[in-house]
This record gives sequence, C-alpha cells and structure tokens, in this order.
Amino acid sequence: MKVLIIGGTRYLGREIMERLAGRGDDVTVVNRGRTECDLPDGVANLTADITEDGSLAAALQGLSFDACVHMIAMDGGRAQAVIDVVHDHVDHYVQCGSTGVFMPLKYVPGDENHPVDPPPDEWGGFNGKAASDRVARELCVRYDLPLTILRPTAIIGPGTIPLDYWGGRDARLYQLIVDGDPIVLTERGEGLIQFGDVRDLAEAFVLAIHQPEKAGEYNISSRYAITHNYYAELLAKAMQVPLRVEYMPTEEIIERHEAAGLTSKRGVRIFVEHMCFTMEKVCSELGYNPQYTAEDTVAASVQWMFDNGRISRG
Ligand SMILES: NC(=O)c1ccc[n+]([C@@H]2O[C@H](COP(=O)([O-])OP(=O)(O)OC[C@H]3O[C@@H](n4cnc5c(N)ncnc54)[C@H](OP(=O)(O)O)[C@@H]3O)[C@@H](O)[C@H]2O)c1
Repeated sequence: MKVLIIGGTRYLGREIMERLAGRGDDVTVVNRGRTECDLPDGVANLTADITEDGSLAAALQGLSFDACVHMIAMDGGRAQAVIDVVHDHVDHYVQCGSTGVFMPLKYVPGDENHPVDPPPDEWGGFNGKAASDRVARELCVRYDLPLTILRPTAIIGPGTIPLDYWGGRDARLYQLIVDGDPIVLTERGEGLIQFGDVRDLAEAFVLAIHQPEKAGEYNISSRYAITHNYYAELLAKAMQVPLRVEYMPTEEIIERHEAAGLTSKRGVRIFVEHMCFTMEKVCSELGYNPQYTAEDTVAASVQWMFDNGRISRG
C-alpha cells in the first residue's frame, strides 16, 4: 500500500511510519526538514510546509497514494490546507485527532458519540482539534473522500517524557520523585487518566490505513483508565522509591508553580478532568487489540527516561 504521512518524524508519527515501512508498505513522509530524523531504508521524504501556500501542492505534483495520514491537524486551517491539496492525490484521508475534544466528560467511559463542547483553551480546551475534526468531516464529504479520524488519549511509552501529574511533560517533576520529594497530586488524586502506549496507538493507525472500507471515527488507547493515586503508585514503583503523596488544589498548583514553568493553566486543568474512554468500537470494528496496560507503559516510560538521561539516581 502507498501511504503519505504528513509529519511522521517524531514520536507517534515516527512509530506509525516505522511500522508501515516494516510491514513492506511504500511510505512517503512530508515535513519541513527541521526535525532530525534518520528514515528507514526505502522511506521517501518530501520537503514542504503545510502552512505555506502552494508548498504541499508543489511537493505532491504527479504523485498518488492509497492513503494520507495527517499527524499535525492542530486546527481547522491546517486540516483545510492539507485536505484541499491531498484530495486529488489520495483515496483515503486519516487524521490524527485527540480525545481531548470530548473533555470535560459528561459520562464515563466516554465514547465516539460523546458531545463535543470544549471549554476555552485557557481552561484546558481542545478547540483547535475540535475545529480540525469539523473541517475534515465537511471537506471529505465535499470531495467524496473516505475519512478516518483516530483520537488518542494521553500518549506515553518509550520515546518521550510521559505526561506528568501536572499536565505537562517535564522531566524535572520526575527527578523530584527520584530525589525523594512527595508526588503532589491535584485535588484528592481521584481523577482518571488513560494512557495509550505509542506502540499500540501506531498499530491502530496501521489497522485503519489497511481497512479503508471501515473509514470512521475511533477513540484509541489502552483498555482501562487508572486513578491519579494509582499513577503515583506506579511511578514510585518504577523509580524504586517509597510512595509519598500529597494533595493540593489545582488553582494552588498553578499559583505556586506556573511561574517556574513546571505547570500551565491549560495542562493542569485538563489533567484534573477524568480521561476515560471505551475501546469497544475500535476493537470490534478495526480488530484493535492493545498489548500494553497502564502498568506496562508507565514502567517502560520511566525506564526510557533513565536510559536516555532525562532523570538519574543520586
Ligand atoms: N501528545 C499527546 O499526548 C497527544 C494526545 C492525543 C493526540 N495527540 C496528537 O498527536 C499528533 C502529534 O503526533 P506527534 O507528536 O507524534 O507528531 P509527528 O507527526 O510525528 O511530528 C510532528 C511532525 O510534523 C512535522 N511538521 C511540523 N510542522 C510542520 C509544517 N508546518 N509542515 C510540514 N511538516 C511539519 C515535523 O517535522 P519538521 O519539524 O521537520 O517539519 C514532524 O515530522 C497531534 O495531532 C496531536 O494532537 C497527541
């Protein structure tokens, strides 16, 4: 299968690219060439900036693909900039969304039919991602192009710093735990977080790309959410330190730690909301079968931080 990936040189995008190439698909990656990346043998690379008029169209001249995976649809403008060009070159458009568009959840577990009404961005909203979903739906109907939207929950697993308990990806917070400081959780630590391991999520993209007849919208993650308190337990276990937890109201965390860049209003306010989604649709329709539990993926992420010098012992 011939697959075009817009993005695809970092983390989830890279994992998708490597899996597709590994199974023998003919993969072409489009990026601006700013991210350092050794592409596997046989993966083609086109240079274009999707935010520059005419840049993507020039790069794709004369080319056609079975599917396009758009990894960087962060707002409606970006979704439009890509779909307006690729609809002439591809048979199936796959966009990377986010389950953040459904939060704050009205019921748990959330599903694909949950209402979308994100609060303003300062309150942790995902308005840009919600707009990119709306634009993709509208344009794919106009161009008669099959559309799949895959929405990961919080992505962790080897390759980057995991989402921390203040809603960022800051290695300094993890280092504090290794050094013996308590883990300071928002409110009572009873919120729910659902981690999707980058390797499982990439597999969901491969399944969707290879089943264009199942085009649709799917939430993707591991099979269950965990409480923030249990996340703290898993972190302490993986770091081999005694568990020490304290609690602090969200607004106090912002007041005390935003100036030092350890948290952001948006990050911590979205983290405190429940993140919990059923995988029923993607498992039954695409045959998704996530291999990594929260326990596995937290341990692997902590190990990745030690192995890559992001945190260290004494
Ligand atoms: N992080 C999470 O927990 C989370 C959760 C849910 C959903 N998501 C979604 O996951 C997606 C991000 O995946 P990822 O971080 O693994 O990213 P990725 O697609 O692997 O990396 C970003 C890529 O885009 C390229 N790029 C950036 N700006 C560009 C431009 N203007 N024109 C062309 N290429 C450009 C970068 O290369 P160059 O810099 O060289 O151009 C790089 O290849 C997003 O859609 C995000 O909303 C993330």
